[in-house]
Amino acid sequence: MKISNRLKTIASFVEDDSYVFDVGCDHALLDIFLVQNKKNIKVIASDINPNPLKFAEKNIALYGVSDKVQIALGNGLNNIPSSVDTIIISGLGGLTINDIFKRDIDKLSSIKNIILSPHSDIYSVRKYVTSIGYKVVDEILLQDQKKIYTVIKFNKGQVNYTEDELLFGPIILKNKTPLFYQYYQSLLQKNKKIIKKIPKTNKKLHEELENINKRLDEVLKV
Ligand SMILES: C[S@@+](CC[C@H](N)C(=O)[O-])C[C@H]1O[C@@H](n2cnc3c(N)ncnc32)[C@H](O)[C@@H]1O
Repeated sequence: MKISNRLKTIASFVEDDSYVFDVGCDHALLDIFLVQNKKNIKVIASDINPNPLKFAEKNIALYGVSDKVQIALGNGLNNIPSSVDTIIISGLGGLTINDIFKRDIDKLSSIKNIILSPHSDIYSVRKYVTSIGYKVVDEILLQDQKKIYTVIKFNKGQVNYTEDELLFGPIILKNKTPLFYQYYQSLLQKNKKIIKKIPKTNKKLHEELENINKRLDEVLKV
């Protein structure tokens, strides 16, 4: 089965022999790919909306994997069984992801792996998830259809990260790739243009963007 580079990258972070709970599965293509390509995987494809779940169900039947992918209607971690060891949440905003964990924090005790690809507020996600007893064990910045995505894998553990590590990613910072330079160089240039257009009276926004640019300048030094 063909899936996007983004979903394939998320799948590459999943370990064989896992029991996965995919929050916001939508079409369930990731979940079907997982059971087709990893060893001994079981998946619960969960979504808050019945309509995506109908598509998910159709796709699961179409690919003949109904014995390995179960569907569940629910909000966040509502229906997560205690035997699940891996949570995936991708394509949701970072603050929604944090809320999902906050609501069901007591359900994380058996969760070894958390794999996240938030589409916003990635700093807040790293900050929150590492504050509840997880550490970053793998992460990547990737490009798919001209968009940039981050995928992060957390395991249980305690590490105190710097502000830059929370913002850019501790592992992403250690192994700065050509994509990292390309992405943050372009952000820096964009910010510079925006700063020129902001009226001088808006001191707060000026300062905020100048501070971000200082940090970008620092991390972009080779
Ligand atoms: C943009 S899609 C992402 C689909 C897929 N995970 C991906 O990365 O391609 C977001 C999906 O999350 C579902 N969703 C949003 N909030 C949710 C929540 N609190 N609990 C479960 N599912 C949620 C939506 O119904 C939608 O199907």
